[in-house]
Amino acid sequence: MPLVTGKQILDEAKKGGYGVGAFNVNDMEQIQAIMAAAEATGSPVIIQASRGALKYSNFIYLGYLMKAAVLDNPGIPVAMHLDHGNSLETAKKAIELGFSSVMIDGSLMEDGKTPSTYDYNVKVTKSVVEYAHARGVSVEAEIGTLGGIEDGVGSGKIHLTDPKEAKKFVDETGVDSLAIAIGTSHGAYKFKGAANLAFDVLKEVRALIDIPIVLHGASSVPKELVDEINKYGGQIPGATGVPLESLQKAIALGVQKINVDTDGRLAMTGAIRKVFALEPEKFDPRDYLGPARTALTELIKSKMLAFKTNGHSNDYEPISLEQMKEFYAKK
Ligand code: G3H
Ligand code: 13P
Ligand code: ZN
Repeated sequence: MPLVTGKQILDEAKKGGYGVGAFNVNDMEQIQAIMAAAEATGSPVIIQASRGALKYSNFIYLGYLMKAAVLDNPGIPVAMHLDHGNSLETAKKAIELGFSSVMIDGSLMEDGKTPSTYDYNVKVTKSVVEYAHARGVSVEAEIGTLGGIEDGVGSGKIHLTDPKEAKKFVDETGVDSLAIAIGTSHGAYKFKGAANLAFDVLKEVRALIDIPIVLHGASSVPKELVDEINKYGGQIPGATGVPLESLQKAIALGVQKINVDTDGRLAMTGAIRKVFALEPEKFDPRDYLGPARTALTELIKSKMLAFKTNGHSNDYEPISLEQMKEFYAKK
């Protein structure tokens, strides 16, 4: 029974003082790589699909691949999470597919680009909380906006979280975890100069709210991955991310969920480019997707160790969605 809510994984991480990576997936190789890393390091894990990824796979294909990850890894607590849900409708689709955790990103309007009002965010978040909790599914919401644009997710402008507003928002919506904006952005070009994060904002939010905190846009864009891509014909000069030490500081200050998509894309792309460049005679997808999967497994393992998620897969008894339904009903 290893499918658990994001809430259980993150509440436990908060108690234990460690971080949990939430890794974006689009295909089988990414899912297998993340699960192999979780097995190898004994880590609970959150696998997350954006609504773009679900749409790309016609929802059902990715949903079933994620379910396969749960079935194939009975010893690992796994949450199937919707990343950047834009509406109650999207959350409903994910929950019907068997997701145990959903994000409603009401910091933006339904188009995923236009910044919303506080009142809109509260309204749409409450509607998702009501629907999801009635089914034992936990909910992440966002207050403040990130920079960067990932295939339609993000306004491109950073608007740091107001700690008092965050507290009010949590009280009004009953969400289980909260994504805050402290200067990160999605994608591979996060900072023009130094990687400055607003740790003072994080500290203030942590002092005011008691639920797990989420950091989006948390890829580190490691130089060696960027160099590998550029070496084999890629062109991504000047890519930068959030240094690992900043993520570790954020975890020490009270962040529990660390969202990583870009770094996985970089690891896979570098490995695929290398095969194409050095073994041009190859054309079986397994000959390049296999090495991509291996490269991603190594990357995720290193993140699990850096976030100190390793060794926590057996710390607690999994709580089923049925049990969570009863828990939420009593609240
Ligand atoms: O936060 C955004 C994630 O990186 C997902 O990106 O919408 O391109 O799948 P995507
Ligand atoms: P990165 O682009 O930094 O990997 O962020 C991913 C993310 O926040 C997914 O929701
Ligand atoms: Zn995000």
